Amino acid sequence: MKSALSVTPDRSAGEEPEGDVLAIRGGRPLTGRVEVKGAKNLVTKAMVAALLGGTTSTLRDVPDISDVKVVRSLLEVHGVKVWDGEDEGTLHFDPSGAVAAHFEAIDAHAGASRIPILFCGPLLHLLGEALIPDLGGCRIGDRPINFHMDALRAFGAVVDKSYEGIRITAPDGLHGANIELPYPSVGATEQVLLTAVKAKGTTELRNAAIEPEIMDLIAVLQKMGAIISYEPNRVILIEGVDELRGYDHRAIFDRNEAASWACAALATDGDIFVGGAKQQEMLTFLNVFRKAGGWFDVHEDGIQFRRDGALKPVVVETDVHPGFMTDWQQPLIVALTQATGTSTVHETVYENRLGFTQALVQMGADIVVHPQGIDSADRRVPRRALEQAAVINGPTPLHAADVEVPDLRGGYSYVIAALTAEGESVVRNVGIIRRGYEKFLTKLDDLGADFDVIG
Ligand code: EPU
Repeated sequence: MKSALSVTPDRSAGEEPEGDVLAIRGGRPLTGRVEVKGAKNLVTKAMVAALLGGTTSTLRDVPDISDVKVVRSLLEVHGVKVWDGEDEGTLHFDPSGAVAAHFEAIDAHAGASRIPILFCGPLLHLLGEALIPDLGGCRIGDRPINFHMDALRAFGAVVDKSYEGIRITAPDGLHGANIELPYPSVGATEQVLLTAVKAKGTTELRNAAIEPEIMDLIAVLQKMGAIISYEPNRVILIEGVDELRGYDHRAIFDRNEAASWACAALATDGDIFVGGAKQQEMLTFLNVFRKAGGWFDVHEDGIQFRRDGALKPVVVETDVHPGFMTDWQQPLIVALTQATGTSTVHETVYENRLGFTQALVQMGADIVVHPQGIDSADRRVPRRALEQAAVINGPTPLHAADVEVPDLRGGYSYVIAALTAEGESVVRNVGIIRRGYEKFLTKLDDLGADFDVIG
């Protein structure tokens, strides 16, 4: 990597370059090894769970990403002591000094992440009230919080919208509840878990999300002393307890990052070993990867990904676990632009998660987005009102363009597209990618990508 800027990364010190704009020269396969750490979508929740413990918690394999920084800072403004362990990626949390935070301190985090909403249950147990700032996160749909608020009300909480944000109180404490989610929402399931573990009595949650990251959060809570059983048909039973202690936990690996690098190998005709990736949590992805013309080899310490001849078109429908994750479709679509034939990707989880394809079209891809979805035989799940579909005709050579990153996964996909394209692309606003991909510029450099940080 040549640095065209004053930002000269010192690789010997393991320093990740800063900067928000990349000039990327494509056409070089990505080859080599990258390591993935703990899953963003578990780590941030396990950090919140530390608030519930009576003693210090230790979380291992924490990635250095900006979502972790936001949650760390929010814990700190609530009086939780957070410090780095001796091993890289280890964080310790001491919640014994937890206090209500000032509105200004909380508000400083507004718009930065969606995790603050998960502070509700723990803060209600600890302090009797919670103040939630405006939520951030990727703009991939409306992302309402009605399931969260309805669940909190079922536990006995009172929700008031004030000029400061949302103020939630529990004048009579929180009690167990019978809750059926209208949709197996990841966040709402976590909300219920983090609230029910210390509520009085038993909670039955139906239509729960069962993503591996949720199962790992249940493991964290069980280590803390919670009693949680996972029943058939998306039912989770939680028996509330009076006290929880701290935990020591190594986070489940980030399967979204692993899938992203796998797609990068597919798109650029490279060969990437993803250290830390495991097969079980990626079964659905691996099937699609293979059908699309990918080859993989599962090792003790990771999975190797490359092409197995020409890329082939696939029909994919995103879904809740154990379906094909919505976070996997963006990097996959980049690879599908290089497959011979017509692929279809139905997005059923978010209503606006195919908008990123516009930039791929600007780069020469043949992608048509059908905002109302399209009919197709053998659908695995009933159509959701939110559904969209992208039809991708390939192969189309991609050419360089000047593009602006819209969201986390879309942004990563633009980088991969630029690496697949002929010529020098400019990719702006790459800071968003740091929300969920640790040291991604260092990793790209390790894999032989040709780019400069130019702004
Ligand atoms: N929904 C509602 N009301 C609610 C909550 C959700 O209508 O109160 C809808 C959403 O609008 C969406 C669907 O339910 O259409 C699913 O949302 P869910 O609650 O499952 O998503 P989330 O918890 O906000 C997490 C991840 C996302 C990931 C989804 C799906 C975190 C921080 N985020 O979001 O990750 O795509 O689950 O697996 O865990 C990412 O990593 O880039 C990312 C967006």
